[in-house]
Amino acid sequence: MSRSAHPAGPRHADVLPEGHYSGPAADLNALDPKVWAQTVTRDADANGVVTVGGIDVKTLAERHGTPAYVLDEADFRERARAWRTAFGPDADVFYAGKAFLSRAVVRWLHEEGLNLDVCSGGELATALSAGMPADRIAFHGNNKSVSEITRAIEAGVGRIVLDSFQEIVRVAHVAQSLGKRQPVQIRITVGVEAHTHEFIATAHEDQKFGIPLAGGQAAEAVRRALQLDGLELIGIHSHIGSQIFDMSGFEVAAHRVVGLLKDIRDEHGVELPEIDLGGGLGIAYTSDDDPREPHDIAKALTEIVTRECDSARLRTPRISVEPGRAIVGPTAFTLYEVGTIKPLDGLRTYVSVDGGMSDNIRTALYDAEYSVALVSRRSDAEPMLARVVGKHCESGDIVVKDAFLPGDLAPGDLIAVPATGAYCRSMASNYNHVLRPPVVAVKDGESRVIVRRETEEDLLRLDVG
Ligand code: LLP
Repeated sequence: MSRSAHPAGPRHADVLPEGHYSGPAADLNALDPKVWAQTVTRDADANGVVTVGGIDVKTLAERHGTPAYVLDEADFRERARAWRTAFGPDADVFYAGKAFLSRAVVRWLHEEGLNLDVCSGGELATALSAGMPADRIAFHGNNKSVSEITRAIEAGVGRIVLDSFQEIVRVAHVAQSLGKRQPVQIRITVGVEAHTHEFIATAHEDQKFGIPLAGGQAAEAVRRALQLDGLELIGIHSHIGSQIFDMSGFEVAAHRVVGLLKDIRDEHGVELPEIDLGGGLGIAYTSDDDPREPHDIAKALTEIVTRECDSARLRTPRISVEPGRAIVGPTAFTLYEVGTIKPLDGLRTYVSVDGGMSDNIRTALYDAEYSVALVSRRSDAEPMLARVVGKHCESGDIVVKDAFLPGDLAPGDLIAVPATGAYCRSMASNYNHVLRPPVVAVKDGESRVIVRRETEEDLLRLDVG
């Protein structure tokens, strides 16, 4: 996932393979701005507590408990705005709600001029209930139910992204029965191997999403969609995967999507007005990752599409993109309280926190790498090689696989794992009946719970047996 192999840091002679962790000793009190939310700082005084949005983490822990996802609202808004500004008025930015969605987030996106990509009835309901105009919503998914499709069309969503031949018919049928003509895009798979984890690569052919370009299937899907009265085909969609740093996959995708637009023009005399290049831009989970800035990405994508269209003598379509992780990922960290500390001689020290794989499944699922820091105080103690683990009944319950933490770490200390804004709360579970943490937004010295902590009553309310 993250490209970083191991944390750069001081050597731990007893434990580490020779030559493995070379380089200068990292200052464990330093907070790399690449991986921490923008307003995070460590107080310069002797105690060195970390603050975010003008509030220190000890106060946040007292007020809201731990574990908690702490989200820097100013940072979120700024990243959303940066994407919006980078793409300008002739393109659309759809925030991918699957990364993290709540009503507050929907309102911020609306205020910052972004659109929203939803992929389930639940996400659609959240978006609509927070006042996102339906025409700014795109509805995705490889297996949308008829009732989800009906709700989306009734609400008037701006586009439905069709994912299969069956869905072309299904959506056309529902639209027609509601007396509507639904704007749609067709999601194609362009046959690109994105350089990312297998589970989150989506444009190669052997997976469940989209309609393959290969073998003329995408062209056939376009033929069918153009014939159906219930559908208004507005464009072609491609999403190649997630946590990608290398732009070359997007380049190939754009080339192939534009190739299809050209074939459509040649066969049907129609120039489709839109293309969507999906999301997937990577973020820094550790200091070794170097993500690109939105304006670089916008410039690169716009240039690729314009160049390809010029050479195909097509009008450049309106471009849209769907960043999720790149907007919300870096804006939050998970605040944990340290519990049991177990040094294993000759191996490492296991540091248990009060959450785990139920609030961050990404380490177990994708071998994701994270960084971690002691945040309730500064420490100049010798570094120790640590593994941060949760409280679940499973040895794979690992939050941070390899990290250095100060050797004087003690139960009751607060540690934080940065870059947990995306795909952590949204993939959280109740495993072992552990309660899902709240999301606390911080800004200008104020903290506000935007998703409250789950309670035992919440658990028992669902258990009706
Ligand atoms: N658009 C479509 C059609 C998608 O399927 C996705 C992500 C996105 C946009 C947003 O991708 P992003 O910019 O956030 O990378 N749970 C995995 C990631 C799964 C991504 C699924 N689709 C993880 O934690 O890494």
